[in-house]
Amino acid sequence: MDYKMELADVLYDQLKEHIGKSKLMAMIEKPKFENMGDLAFPCFELAKIYRKAPQTIAIELIKNMGDSNFIQNAEAVNGYVNVFLNKREVSTRIIQEVLSSKEKYGDINIGNQDIITIDFSSPNIAKPFSMGHLRSTVIGNSLAHISEKCGFKPIRINHLGDWGTQFGKLIVAYKMWGEEQKVKKNPIKELLSLYVQFHEEAELDSSLNDQGRLWFKKLEEGDKEAFELWEWFREESLKEFSKIYDLLGVSFDSVHGEAFYNDKMDQVVQILEEKQLLKESEGAKVVEINGDLPPCLIKKKDGTTLYATRDLAAAIYRQTHYGFVQSLYVVGNEQTLHFKQLFDVLLKMDYTWHEGLKHIPFGMMLKDGKKMSTRKGKVVLLEEVLNDAINLAKKNIMVKNPELESKDTVARQVGVGAVIFHDLKNYRLNDIEFSLDDMLRFEGETGPYIQYTHARASSILKKGKFVESNEKLAITDDEAWVIIINLMAFPAVIKRAFDEYDPSQIAKYVIELSKAFNKYYGSVRILADHEQKQARLSLVFAVQIVLKEGLRLLGIKAPTEM
Ligand code: ARG
Repeated sequence: MDYKMELADVLYDQLKEHIGKSKLMAMIEKPKFENMGDLAFPCFELAKIYRKAPQTIAIELIKNMGDSNFIQNAEAVNGYVNVFLNKREVSTRIIQEVLSSKEKYGDINIGNQDIITIDFSSPNIAKPFSMGHLRSTVIGNSLAHISEKCGFKPIRINHLGDWGTQFGKLIVAYKMWGEEQKVKKNPIKELLSLYVQFHEEAELDSSLNDQGRLWFKKLEEGDKEAFELWEWFREESLKEFSKIYDLLGVSFDSVHGEAFYNDKMDQVVQILEEKQLLKESEGAKVVEINGDLPPCLIKKKDGTTLYATRDLAAAIYRQTHYGFVQSLYVVGNEQTLHFKQLFDVLLKMDYTWHEGLKHIPFGMMLKDGKKMSTRKGKVVLLEEVLNDAINLAKKNIMVKNPELESKDTVARQVGVGAVIFHDLKNYRLNDIEFSLDDMLRFEGETGPYIQYTHARASSILKKGKFVESNEKLAITDDEAWVIIINLMAFPAVIKRAFDEYDPSQIAKYVIELSKAFNKYYGSVRILADHEQKQARLSLVFAVQIVLKEGLRLLGIKAPTEM
């Protein structure tokens, strides 16, 4: 139920000659102070049209306002129509709505099952999964859930970094110093150290770089030895990545990495050629970009392709293959220039669908104020981070609830949930400071706090032997109103999270709802014998449903006990 719509309805008759309903809806505000009501309609813009003082208009609007069960009272204050909702009616209606829709509450069908491709995670094989890739993974995964909730069909794409000159170098390094068994045992670590060794040796002997380029050329030309080694590196890396995806509960519809576009690039170059967009620059082929930006490099001197070439082919493939209405790239803000160039080239190629392309950038993960680095020898292995979080969560459970049966499952859900929530509660463009202790606190704005609130709601329902009934239940506790207001806001929050590609809206929302609920829990004896008991339990159930759904949209599990 949308109360802005309700208010718009009752005002519309008087205003329809001058404003449309959607404009009217958009004008409705939330008053700054609670004692000014639940909704406010400002009359300042109307003053010019009616040539009357805003306050006079407010008074007249109220005098001739239509009827609504949900509006208790309206007051004209300083040029606003302040509206007080009928708490009883509204609460009854909201609780009913949540209980009858369950996890579908908040579904908004604005998507018509149109396709949105989401390119996220996209780590580079033979290299550790970095903190940046973790951020991309959790943000992208949540955006996929959110767009699905809005009626779109998300296609989750893991655009693996599995192609490029570095694989030529890696092949050279492996052939010179590598050992099969070592790679099998510890693929990423071993391949990374070969890569590091390559760079060290190449400082002394630059001919190694030429060999690297040569082997990448061989790879692009389909040389058998090169291909088999590359394929093996890829498989071993993927095995390690999938451990992380399993822990995070993330899956993909496509793992077409950069290599997949190897046979699709000639065509792109040809189109660029035909459209006369390719220019020679120091032996390389480039497309010039509008404004002050550097040109987009398409082919190197030796004829090999680049990251951007593969992204061009990928964008075109995705449009032909999926016919997306939007195509998102969840990639750190250090690649902003790359995506500007990419989108600009596609615009120059006259693809009308370039408008649906969006770079969704995000900030860095910091440790003690510095970028958390995965290179320079010292590797922060993401799997270790997640396992640390799980172990810490388990310790907490041992202290708080030693009787709990499914300790391991819950520890996993809490540990992983803590890491995800910590990331998503921040607006994505902000840099965030990594702190395991902060993430796992049960108090404050953390994942465990929300999960704990959800578990508390579940246990109240169990203790109260709650059974749903069809009875209309009016809740009269004053303390419940904040919860009701929050429950009411859920669909709008989802819409905003979708429009702004911003999961933190949902994270902040579940924090608010949890706070409101815990306050209620602290002041009302929900389980006491009272005529309100069934109504109170229904409210608890509504909170439990919405918290669980909110967490799901973030990619976090909601255990019923912890
Ligand atoms: N593999 C790249 C990296 O780690 C990210 C790829 C993002 N997706 C894309 N289509 N460019 O930097």
